[in-house]
Amino acid sequence: MIKVSLIHGPNLNLIGLREPEFYGRDSFDEINRKIKLRAQQLDMEVHIMQSNHEGEIIDAIHEARESADALIINPGAFTHYSYAIRDAITAVRLPAIEVHLSNVHAREAFRRESVIAPVVSGQIIGMGPYGYLLALDAARQIVEQSHR
Ligand code: DQA
Repeated sequence: MIKVSLIHGPNLNLIGLREPEFYGRDSFDEINRKIKLRAQQLDMEVHIMQSNHEGEIIDAIHEARESADALIINPGAFTHYSYAIRDAITAVRLPAIEVHLSNVHAREAFRRESVIAPVVSGQIIGMGPYGYLLALDAARQIVEQSHR
């Protein structure tokens, strides 16, 4: 069974309450429920974590090296400046998918740059929480192809 580690970065625990014009009104728990349901439908195992701390996110990426076949990560604002998270993704050599709920290109200029983008397989941007479900599909595809 394909195993995925899904990491929500800082402030994403407040989703539903936080800037709903950008992030929608689904609660964090509701989003995670949908992710788990989709994983079940795709016959995948998903481990979900959220942290507001860079080091914890890095530890979770390191842990995924042994326990997962792929990473799905929304690094939140760390997207725009965390070379440490980028290096962690490179270090574990797992296929990774970067997800952003909002269309970062339609917002402030600083959100247009992702230091994470060059080290991931691809990005899913602006699709709201549905982006996580698309990312599960994509992760499955990528892992299956790599085993052929
Ligand atoms: C975000 C976009 C980031 O710019 C922002 O800091 C977030 C959420 C998104 O999902 O759209 O926290 O990653």
